[in-house]
Amino acid sequence: MKCLVVLTGAGMSAESGIRTFRDSNGLWNNYRIEEVASPEAWEKHPEVVLEFYNQRRKQLFEVEPNAGHRALVRLEEKFDVQIITQNVDDLHERAGSSHVLHLHGELKKARSTVDPDLVYELDHWELKMGDTCEKGSQLRPHIVWFGEPVPLFDQAVQIAKTADIFLVIGTSLVVYPAAGLIRYVERDVPKFYVDPQAFPVHGVPKLEVIREKAGKVLPKLVEKMLNRFA
Ligand code: OAD
Repeated sequence: MKCLVVLTGAGMSAESGIRTFRDSNGLWNNYRIEEVASPEAWEKHPEVVLEFYNQRRKQLFEVEPNAGHRALVRLEEKFDVQIITQNVDDLHERAGSSHVLHLHGELKKARSTVDPDLVYELDHWELKMGDTCEKGSQLRPHIVWFGEPVPLFDQAVQIAKTADIFLVIGTSLVVYPAAGLIRYVERDVPKFYVDPQAFPVHGVPKLEVIREKAGKVLPKLVEKMLNRFA
């Protein structure tokens, strides 16, 4: 079976009703995103950080996967599909995709602030000050914040290197190291980039840019891939 690797970003979930980062002007309640998504923010005002992620988690319990997420599931009929997502939502999983690597963490999980291996599933939207891990320390969102290392990046690189086809969807490709993954893909591998505002990507051979919305174009593109490459 050929390996089809997919890298997704916020645009993948836009048609489910989740706003992208750059669309919201990078602002939330007059805070810049960096002011609520960084270790410094957690030091300075943890309650503001918790509230930011609580609102996002609350919304996640209200939205559904879109036609784009569902189309990617169909690819599993004929490909070994590996999804690498920058998104912290669980819409790929809820659509039915089997292999999803969350580079930037997961909204529905919380983690200990003394032991990063203690990670907990959340079945409710609110994480509060005073919610603690089994060692008694405050729980934080299980999110990779600005300025923090990306622990799963090496694993993502290994996956990207095995791609026979590489598909990039709904990402501005400005946040590293995720944006650099496409450069680990073999030169002769066909690559597709679906994003209505895609910028040209220089120095990446065999790349077809499709300036369309994911939910609109993916059902057709998936059909084409099942017929052409499988
Ligand atoms: P961005 O907000 O930077 O980019 C979203 C992209 O989605 C843009 O290029 C839009 O043109 C595109 N887009 C919008 N609607 C779309 C649709 N219906 N179909 C397809 N594409 C659409 O989001 P990311 O690139 O995901 O990190 O941002 C990367 C990282 O920056 C995020 O994971 C987050 C943020 O800081 C962390 O939280 C650590």
